[in-house]
Order: sequence, then structure tokens, then C-alpha cells
Amino acid sequence: MNKLDTALVASALQDAGFELTESVKEADVVLINTCSVRRHAEQRVFSHLGHLKHIKKSRPDMMVGVIGCMAQRLGEELLNHDAVDFVCGPAQISQIAELIANDTQRKHKKPAITERIREKLTEEQNRALDDFECAYGIADRQIPGQAYVRVMRGCDNFCSYCVVPYVRGPEVSRPPAAVIEQIKKLAEAGIKQVTLLGQKVNAYKYIAGEKIYSLADLLAAASSINGIEWLKFVTSYPTEEFFDDILQAMAASPKVCSYLHIPAQSGSDKILRAMNRHYTAGEYLELLDEARKIVPDIAVAGDFIVGFPGETEEDFQATIDLIEKTRYKNCFIFKYSPRPGTTADKKLADTVPLQVKKRRNTELLAVQERISDELSREFLGKEVKVLVKGLSKKPHLNTAADRDNPQLLGRTAGDWIVVFNGPTSLTGKFVSVKITKTAPLTLFGELI
Ligand code: 5AD
Ligand code: SF4
Repeated sequence: MNKLDTALVASALQDAGFELTESVKEADVVLINTCSVRRHAEQRVFSHLGHLKHIKKSRPDMMVGVIGCMAQRLGEELLNHDAVDFVCGPAQISQIAELIANDTQRKHKKPAITERIREKLTEEQNRALDDFECAYGIADRQIPGQAYVRVMRGCDNFCSYCVVPYVRGPEVSRPPAAVIEQIKKLAEAGIKQVTLLGQKVNAYKYIAGEKIYSLADLLAAASSINGIEWLKFVTSYPTEEFFDDILQAMAASPKVCSYLHIPAQSGSDKILRAMNRHYTAGEYLELLDEARKIVPDIAVAGDFIVGFPGETEEDFQATIDLIEKTRYKNCFIFKYSPRPGTTADKKLADTVPLQVKKRRNTELLAVQERISDELSREFLGKEVKVLVKGLSKKPHLNTAADRDNPQLLGRTAGDWIVVFNGPTSLTGKFVSVKITKTAPLTLFGELI
């Protein structure tokens, strides 16, 4: 979501006459797009702001804006920071160019955020966000050939640890016609992979008279668009509703990638209840079994939180057991971080010591690494289709000697990272790679 918002804002500002620079030293305006999901992310923003405050001493005209979830969460408190000139929440990003041009926030001490975030936006506000979403140019996309398209905003799930419903507001599904129109425009401009975004993307639901549009309908409609070759969607919530339909759409269309990011968060039913997740570990496993029946080659990824209040060794063991059974391709593991305003923070003490959270994090990663390693080995000797993202991030491997044949990186339909040597002109294109070596999270191979 944040990558998309960053791209949208960069594009809107370029349309308004700004130029992008990589260097703070050159910048007239510095924007920090922020995340509030864990405390660590917010602390990093404050440390950036400390640095910018220092720079502003010699360059008082430089403007600094904080946008995104932290802007919405902290509002005026951020505006009072010495380094900050303006603050803009996720629902106000369409006004970004005006905010910079007017430069009035500091004087009036009024951040551009939504006062009552859980109230539904007006039709007009939703339309403004939709127009903003559709308007931005292809050249600004961060990954060649690929684009994100938001299909839903906000979240109504209120998982007890999560700040998202309080900073991104109520759940709204965008009209299917707007989404499809946007994907058509992207396809015409050469985009090959579209990733549909929503906090609970499988819960996408748009009611138009008698008809209820689901994510399966969006996937079917998007599949018929010429030029689009791969469709992915993140993130899914483990629920029966629409689940079969979405997987049937995946099985029916070769364009819908066999990939599911479906966080379980914990393997303990007691903790899942305390997290306000509406399923048990057993039900979660049943959903995955169902998914694998309908789409046998499906790659599954997950998220887990360790050290949630009250998590005992037994609860943690249940999480390890779940990971052993689910056999994720990869998963993201986070240490519980209490977020102000959430039910968990209000009602439950953060009882698990940091040392224990760290140990559980490391243990879980080790189990997952072993599984990822086993799964990646199955690719040895096989040929995979890869959408090339660009140069790999290992510059020492991309020396002058490799100039015409540097190390490139891309992803498969199942989201596996593939590294191989080839010309940079392949960026944004599909290639075939024969896998010759594997590591837990990466496949290495030779261009065919
Ligand atoms: N502490 C730690 N991890 C969290 N997540 C969300 N809220 C918190 C929190 N308070 C994790 C969840 C979610 C991912 C995006 O971030 O695992 O799926
Ligand atoms: Fe947060 Fe739960 Fe909504 Fe995901 S589904 S954004 S974890 S409240």
C-alpha cells in the first residue's frame, strides 16, 4: 500500500511541475511516507526527522512533509515537530500538491488528516481518491512492467493488535468498472503484471443493484484484458466467504498466479481468539487443504506475530506445529509491538519479555528456512517463467566485467525470487530460466 501511495504522490507532484531527486541535499521538499504497524517503523521516522531538523538549520526554506498512516495517527503532534512543515493523512493524498504550494499548515497548526477516521468518506471524497488513483503515469512505476492497483481501502476487521482500521478508516471496495478501466490503461501502456491490493483483498465486495461483485469477478474480468499476463492479489484473510470462487478463478485462468499470501498470525486458538481473528488453526489448515485441492501447485506465504500478550511456550509450540503443516514458501515473522489505541494495547499487558520475543522469532525463522529450503530444492533442473525486475542488489557481482551480462533478479508466478545473468534490456520482460542452484528464499539459474 505504501509503495503504491509513494508512487501516486511522486507522480502527482511531477505533474505539478516538481522533479524527483534521490538526494536530500538537493531537495526543496522532502516527503516521508510512513507506516504505523509497528513502533520500530515510527521510531525510524523520528530519527529521520531529527536529521532533517539539523539540515534545516542551514536550509530553512526546505519543506518537510510527513504523509501516510503515522501522519493520520499523530497529526498535530507531528506538526509540532521542529522539522515538520506539513502533515497529510492517507485520505488527503490527492491534495498533496496544493498543500506544498500553499504552505500554510505550520501557521494554522491544522494537519490535513481525517478528524473522525472511522466515519465513511463522502461520495465526493471517494471520487477524489479514485481520480487520483487513476491519473498517475506509467513512467513513475517503480518496477518496470508491473503495477499495483488498489481495489479496497481501509479495514473493518479490528484484529486486536492492529492499527490499520484506526489510520486507514472503514473498508471500502472500489467500483469494479474503475478498477478494470485502470487495468486496461495500464495494459495499453505495457504493464504485464498487476497486483491487486487490499488489506483483506479476498473480502472485496461491491454491490450494484442485484449483483454482488467479488474478487473472483475482478480476476475474471482482468484476465480478459489483452497484454496483462500475470495477476496477483494481496493480502488474503482466512475466511470461507468467496474463498472457493477466488481459487476457482485461479484454476480457470492461467493469468491468475498460483500464489496466496494468507497470514495466520498464530497457531494457538487461544491467541487467535485474543487477536480477534475469526478462525481456529484447524480451520486455517482446512482452508489451505481446500486451496491445494483446487490449485495443486499453489505457493503459499504467511505472516506471524510472536510474543502476543499471554503467549506461552505451549502457544508458541502450536505456531511451530502450524508452520510445519502449512509448508509456506516463505513467511514474515514479527515481534508483537503494542500500538496505541488498539484493543490489545488497551486491555492486555505486553507480558512477553523482548528476549523471549527475539528467541521465538529466531526459532520460527529457522523452521521456516528449513521448509523454504526443501521447497526450493524441488525447482532444481526445472525451467521457470520469470518476470524480470532488474539488476540484483549485489553490486559486487555486477562489476565492469559483467557489464553486458550482469546479475538480474525477477520473480516467478508463485513469487519465488530468481537470480540469473543476462542483459539489462530484459528488465520488465518475461524470460525462461533453468534452475541450477537453490537457497531457502532464492532460486539461481541460467537464462534459456
Ligand atoms: N505488532 C507486530 N506485528 C504486527 N502486524 C500488524 N500489527 C502488528 C503489531 N502490532 C503484522 C501482522 C500483519 C503484518 C502486516 O504486520 O503480521 O499481517
Ligand atoms: Fe489489520 Fe486485521 Fe485489518 Fe489486516 S485484517 S489490516 S491485520 S485489522
